[in-house]
Amino acid sequence: MYKQENLPTVTIEDFARLFGTTVDDIAENCKELIDTMDFRYEILSGIARDKLMLTILKRIDSTDLSVSGEERKPEWERGWGENLHDFVDSGYDISKLVPKYFKKNVPVRLNREYVMPVDPDFILNYTKVFRNWIFKKYLKDVSSVYEFGCGPAIHLAFLASIYPDKKLYGLDWAKPSQEIIRLLSKHFGWQIEGRLFNFFAPDENLHLKEKSAIYTFGALEQIGRNHEAFLQFLLKESTEICINVECISELYSQDCLPDYLAIKYQKRRNYLDGYLTRLQELEATGKVQILAIHHQPFGDTYFDAYSYVVWKTKR
Ligand SMILES: C[S@@+](CC[C@H](N)C(=O)[O-])C[C@H]1O[C@@H](n2cnc3c(N)ncnc32)[C@H](O)[C@@H]1O
Repeated sequence: MYKQENLPTVTIEDFARLFGTTVDDIAENCKELIDTMDFRYEILSGIARDKLMLTILKRIDSTDLSVSGEERKPEWERGWGENLHDFVDSGYDISKLVPKYFKKNVPVRLNREYVMPVDPDFILNYTKVFRNWIFKKYLKDVSSVYEFGCGPAIHLAFLASIYPDKKLYGLDWAKPSQEIIRLLSKHFGWQIEGRLFNFFAPDENLHLKEKSAIYTFGALEQIGRNHEAFLQFLLKESTEICINVECISELYSQDCLPDYLAIKYQKRRNYLDGYLTRLQELEATGKVQILAIHHQPFGDTYFDAYSYVVWKTKR
């Protein structure tokens, strides 16, 4: 299957570029984690690349592609219900919480190319490396962390394992998410609480703790252009730091074919749109301060899910 003997791999320098940072800013234990994984890949070219792009275009045009919004809630409840079931059945094996949309053996977007990884778990492994970097960079000094749209809580479980003293909160509109978190707290003794939360109608009775951080990880993706209610909710709170790891439509290049396909795909699925522009408007009126914006050229076959904006509310 792999034609070349010496396949390229994602090096530490590549990770630094992909994350929008320097090699020195990547902690030693993150580098050690990278060393335990296989990040080799083959770049798709010629007919293979054409075929893949045709598949992507056909998927964008297909009528059976689900679109984000209120109607998708039962799908999320079903999906996390399955993870909950597998988690309990396995005797609380955290790997059973990994969402099933982490597909194995699929072409991946990397540096605005399409590539075929050697390791079937390339996307999951990359995600583990990236969250290790971004969480340690921005969350080390806060005492409470809230993940909005946390789903099966895989990132919170990771945070609990490296920061047992922090108070963690996982919020989601899908009920099985809260049951997973209850079991994580019970079986691992972690300080983690779940709570129902809807981005479209934020709970007015929810107030964030002092010195807290919030983050979203591929969750605002699901709210299209409907982000104002969540932003207004956050503006009422004083946050140390807000991190949104999301597909940020404004950061793609309109002049690059894989980016253009990702823009089309995100539009078709009603994924996050206009959020960064809105944050920039809020910055211009002195309501928030943006600390970092980065397009991360990495994703599954269809779009770059791990771009990020880091910001804080201003009082
Ligand atoms: C792609 S999953 C990401 C889950 C988790 N952040 C992760 O990275 O594993 C999107 C999550 O957003 C949640 N979600 C979608 N729309 C929501 C809404 N309106 N309010 C709250 N959560 C929502 C879904 O239930 C799901 O858990």
